[in-house]
Amino acid sequence: MKEQELRELQNTLSWPEKIGQLIQLSGDFFQSEALAVGPKQKLGIDQDTVNLVGSVLNITGAEATNQIQENYLANSRHKIPLLFMADIIYGYRTIFPIPLGLGATWNPALIKQAYQVIAAESRSAGAHVTFAPMVDLVRDARWGRCLESTGEDPRLNADYAKVMVEGLQGENLEGIASCVKHFAAYGAAEAGREYNTVDMSERRLRQDYLTGYKAAIDAGCKLVMTSFNTYDGMPATGNDFLLKDILRKEWGFDGVIISDYAAIQELVAHGVAADEREATQLAIEATTDIDMKTSCYAKQLEPLIKDGMISSQLVDDAVWRVLKLKNNLGLFEDPYRGASKENEEMNLLSDKNRALSRKVAAESVVLLQNKNNVLPLTPNQDKILLVGPYGDKQDLIGLWAVHGKTTDVTTLKEVLEKKLTSESFKFTQGCDMLDDYSFLGEFGATAEQIDSIGLSESQRESALAEALKLGEVADVIIFAMGEHTMQSGEAGSRTDITLPKIQQDFMNQMIELGKKNILISISGRPLVYTKEVNQMDAILQAWFPGTEGANAIVDLLFGDTNPSGRLSMSFPHNVGQLPIYYNEFKTGRPLTSKTHKGRFISKYLDSPNQPLFPFGYGLSYSEVLYNNLKLSSSEMTEKLMATISISNQSDRDCMETVQLYIQDVTGSVVRPVKELKKYKKVSLKAKETKTVSFELAREDLYYYKRDMSFNVESGTFILFVGPNSEEVLESQFELI
Ligand code: NOJ
Repeated sequence: MKEQELRELQNTLSWPEKIGQLIQLSGDFFQSEALAVGPKQKLGIDQDTVNLVGSVLNITGAEATNQIQENYLANSRHKIPLLFMADIIYGYRTIFPIPLGLGATWNPALIKQAYQVIAAESRSAGAHVTFAPMVDLVRDARWGRCLESTGEDPRLNADYAKVMVEGLQGENLEGIASCVKHFAAYGAAEAGREYNTVDMSERRLRQDYLTGYKAAIDAGCKLVMTSFNTYDGMPATGNDFLLKDILRKEWGFDGVIISDYAAIQELVAHGVAADEREATQLAIEATTDIDMKTSCYAKQLEPLIKDGMISSQLVDDAVWRVLKLKNNLGLFEDPYRGASKENEEMNLLSDKNRALSRKVAAESVVLLQNKNNVLPLTPNQDKILLVGPYGDKQDLIGLWAVHGKTTDVTTLKEVLEKKLTSESFKFTQGCDMLDDYSFLGEFGATAEQIDSIGLSESQRESALAEALKLGEVADVIIFAMGEHTMQSGEAGSRTDITLPKIQQDFMNQMIELGKKNILISISGRPLVYTKEVNQMDAILQAWFPGTEGANAIVDLLFGDTNPSGRLSMSFPHNVGQLPIYYNEFKTGRPLTSKTHKGRFISKYLDSPNQPLFPFGYGLSYSEVLYNNLKLSSSEMTEKLMATISISNQSDRDCMETVQLYIQDVTGSVVRPVKELKKYKKVSLKAKETKTVSFELAREDLYYYKRDMSFNVESGTFILFVGPNSEEVLESQFELI
């Protein structure tokens, strides 16, 4: 539709019709079997209001969306199509690894392909907008939503944000519209506790936390979701500084801002609004366009206009942004946008999509430890025993794959059974997932359901006995362990992030058998593996690896794929170290090899400062040597080249992620000890040596100076290159 026609259409709308465009209800208002996410509320709005709402949450499937659209349009006076928005975070039907796993690929080009697949599947299933990417930078593994983030680094997060938006939307919105979230700094919840306060300096906000959202906006992202948290004392959904000053004015964002689920109403619980009327005023004045799942806008906007409390222009502007989005999506020309059973059949879970999911999963798994090169295994050489609650479990897709199906997943046991002879492979579960499942009550499980999960006391005993018996005659024991799906994701904060106790007890007994032990860990966050690094020969961090996860893991176990994943989030020694991240600010009393014995040093008495596994870390089956770091000059004005030689010592091909960090030695404010600036994932043939070069530009060194201008200061910089944030070669240059 031409813009002029759209304007004219808007002018014909009554206030209730306009306000309807600014309301989003969940699927249960339109179909009974729809997903209901978040707190169930009695909204107390009438059917007339429901008939006017402009968008709907989490209904997918072409049959359902087309039917609802058809009914809606048939009963609508203005004929403005309904917008279908959904949580399609890391896969619609073909599920990719959780974003923390995607982050570990260090391969944005590959991740773009994954999001193209996600867009094509989602579009054929009737979704118009997805609430992705989630780009909240996170440094605290207690927070359950680490699962949805690509990690702790501002640079890496920004790179992923960009390609995710590009992959989802396509060049001309031929995919689906992307909604970046949660604006802003949601990942910095104090003490890792879900929905908790965020309070940080503007400098840190800009330097670290905003880069992901900004990259998404620069990539043309059409929507932004506000976060639940406060920033500087004001919840994001009513925060003028975040929404108006930064997002709208500074970044020029003129797309749609949608509140997170019930976040407008929560302004009352936060205590910055006395009631829904004040909450509505705060939100609309901050330019929050759509109210997700409360009755605030439905009930309060019109009276606020009539009473002269808010300008009607504010509402008109918000409606305009929503109508423009619908128009950009081509909904006026085709309200169904290619959603059909045939397109679903063609796209969903196709062999091609599964193959890509397998490739991404293989690149996402991080080999954390491999003592005496216990991996890779040789098929049918050793007697392998697979044990553990994830050995034969289809729950490999994680909490936030709400449209995916665990029934599409092949289990580790099934894949291994196919690959190996029955003499060389045995499976027994051996132990339960959790000691106690009662926490599932928090998520709506009934007492009977809880009782029916897991093993009874006597089953637990016989499971252990069976595992010990089979373990006796095995050469290698593979432990498929990890967190329960419900232990991470939204509202999955935990203070104990070790493996569940029942699994640890089981491992303690099994390792007594003295076999080669391999841990495959399934989790939505970094776990504390301080004990397991001593017990296990090898550890593969497999996240929730998605539909093809088991195939990918087995490819890695046997060396059909050489591991190449690298951590995008530090793994702590213990919870007491949290938050922990590599790019911390310098302190006045740093811990160095010379100072480690002094008392009055920035350190713990009972724990190392460094994480157990640092940012950027990951092994492969090939030893790669780094040599000969050279700079094109010892001085830099506009550009500088850094080169390094990397050499594969092994007989197998590998992928090596070469990482370049800098440290700005003296600044007008304190600077981080290291900052990732460049990286390249390089393929090396067996025994091959390559020279890898990086071009560093002056802008790469920009930062928020004392006066908050974004620029550089001349002076000395240290440049580091290496396979992770700790094992680096270094050189230095002067910025002129
Ligand atoms: C709340 C979550 O914070 C957000 O990520 C999600 O998109 C909405 N619920 C809608 O389900």
